[in-house]
Amino acid sequence: MSLLKRLSLNDWRLELFTLSFIAGFVVLFWIGDRYNTYLVKNFLASVKGAFTNNFYQFGVSPTETYIKDSSESYSSYATGRENIAKVNIVFRLKPRHNLFVWIMETALSFFTTSVPAPSDKVEITITPANSNVYDNFIAAVVSKLGMNDFRKENYFLSLTRTSDSSNLPESFVYMSEVNEFQEKITTPDLKNALTLQAASFIRFIAFTDQPAEKPESLQELIPRRRVVFSINLTSNKKELAQVQEILEALFAIVDKLATKEISFRSEAVKKVVKTRENEIAKINKIKEDIKQEELAEQKAQQAREERDKLRSLSREEQLKVEKKAQEKKQRKLAKKQRVRM
Ligand SMILES: *[C@@H]1O[C@H](CO)[C@@H](O)[C@H](O)[C@H]1NC(C)=O
Repeated sequence: MSLLKRLSLNDWRLELFTLSFIAGFVVLFWIGDRYNTYLVKNFLASVKGAFTNNFYQFGVSPTETYIKDSSESYSSYATGRENIAKVNIVFRLKPRHNLFVWIMETALSFFTTSVPAPSDKVEITITPANSNVYDNFIAAVVSKLGMNDFRKENYFLSLTRTSDSSNLPESFVYMSEVNEFQEKITTPDLKNALTLQAASFIRFIAFTDQPAEKPESLQELIPRRRVVFSINLTSNKKELAQVQEILEALFAIVDKLATKEISFRSEAVKKVVKTRENEIAKINKIKEDIKQEELAEQKAQQAREERDKLRSLSREEQLKVEKKAQEKKQRKLAKKQRVRM
């Protein structure tokens, strides 16, 4: 039989199935990956105006607008503006390139809160220039959709009080340390940019100096002032125009904070200092508790070792040790009595 004949007689169904499965996976990977890249490019191109109007450099380098860290995470950057050191734009997208992970995460998110449902998020972080530092404070405009989750996920929001206000569309709430902060950051520009339906894609806009992760050391409590603008990725033209408007408003607010055009009463600032001190005390308390526990554990260990030692001695030796301990106790007692006399 010729090779060709043998090949044609063989049953290749399993191999064909495997091959087409792999090919299917590769094609889907490629499509998902391209689609995510398209979403990022489209977003960046649509908000470009707000950045090029304000910054010397928009993009991670003069030639590249973004970096692709993986098929589901991308980042971009802007720098070169008075009062602002930099702006970081971070994208976290659905794992469209990997159908299995996508389905798995979606399914798991129904059963456990530790796995969030896959979604397309953008977080824009504005870091002010550190030459003109303003007071530490936390104040945020938060969408009512998911406000409790945002509070849980972001330590700095957990330090605030939630309140409704006629200053905002009904779909938003304020979360801030003192009412004065929220009122002063709601400039007419920002107020105009916020509409009732904007809460369907804006997650929150937060001024903060505290971390998003709950701090476990004093180091992590060191203030890092920034503005965090968190949104659901959108490709809707009107919403993208709104994102630009909000960005422009936020850049202007940072200017006003830097030039002290927006400043706060000393009572408000004192309250913030108090909150920070409380948080420091909490961490110190945890540290102290851990130390005490370790000390107690050490003592218990020592006592155990001594008991074991005693047990390994012969009966006579045990009696001797006990007698010695007894004598020591009596000597101590006698000494005390002498001191008292
Ligand atoms: C953003 O997207 C998630 C999931 O796709 C959705 O549950 C949420 O309501 C959207 N909007 C906001 C403001 O979180």
